Amino acid sequence: MTEPVDRVVLVTGGAKGQGRNHALAFARQGARVGVMDICRQFPGSAPMATEEDLATTQKLLGEAGADSFALVGDTRSSADMRRFVDTAVERWGRVDVFVANAGVASFGPVVEMTDPMWDDVVSTNLDGVATSIRAVIPTMVAQRSGRIIATSSSVAREGGPNNANYAASKWGVIGFVKSVAIELAPLGITVNAFSPMSVSTDMCHNEATYKLFRPDLADPQEDDVRETFAGLNPMHVPWLELEDATAGVLYLASEGARYVTGAALDVAGGWNAYHGA
Ligand SMILES: NC(=O)c1ccc[n+]([C@@H]2O[C@H](COP(=O)([O-])OP(=O)(O)OC[C@H]3O[C@@H](n4cnc5c(N)ncnc54)[C@H](O)[C@@H]3O)[C@@H](O)[C@H]2O)c1
Repeated sequence: MTEPVDRVVLVTGGAKGQGRNHALAFARQGARVGVMDICRQFPGSAPMATEEDLATTQKLLGEAGADSFALVGDTRSSADMRRFVDTAVERWGRVDVFVANAGVASFGPVVEMTDPMWDDVVSTNLDGVATSIRAVIPTMVAQRSGRIIATSSSVAREGGPNNANYAASKWGVIGFVKSVAIELAPLGITVNAFSPMSVSTDMCHNEATYKLFRPDLADPQEDDVRETFAGLNPMHVPWLELEDATAGVLYLASEGARYVTGAALDVAGGWNAYHGA
């Protein structure tokens, strides 16, 4: 099947990590790309992006030959998300693919979690995804076409100690996606969740995550956690490289996936096979 060129693609959380890599991959396919990121740090969360990171993404998009724009904004704000979509529509007249990728993580026993640790994670990973997608739906409905992809996680279909905020939010993404997929299917708009295992980004490689995986060590480093991460999945892969994650997102946006909707695509070395659903 021939892949469409010249699509308009929007990616939230696009300043670094997976979001940046997804944006660049779409740019290399010939897409026009808008990225948005909050570009500030939540206390207690894994390292988030800066405005310099966002500027670097836009520079790389230009080097990849893409017409692009980059905005600072918070996915939890409906005004920010409308501004994101409106900017694309004013510049390019449509939105073909929307990747609700922005997310955050923080860890701790649920009873010890501070209110901000709970609120920042659940409001970004669930409310932010819903607010983003609600902002783009009218444009896609008017077009009677579109691809919506929301990033969930392998953690979405299991529980995990010290991870209640993150697991609850990512389970929620799948429920949201399945519901919206049914609503939009008659219009030819697909809505899917993308569920990767650990991915080699700042969210995986940081002090708090390493300590969670190796509480027996005072100062664990990457080599100390590799085996523990790999033990989570039967293919024994510690973490996905960025291109492995992006391949899943490109598939859900591809022509070959035009009848795939309401799915949660696992790219997880078989971790998902342990899950009941
Ligand atoms: N890295 C992993 O191990 C892993 C595994 C499974 C799922 N995920 C999910 O993948 C997605 C991408 O994460 P990543 O691995 O690239 O990590 P990352 O921290 O590099 O990227 C996340 C980006 O989202 C941005 N962001 C956070 N909250 C935001 C908000 N409210 N509004 C706008 N932008 C916001 C951050 O600033 C950051 O640039 C997230 O949804 C994450 O939960 C990550």
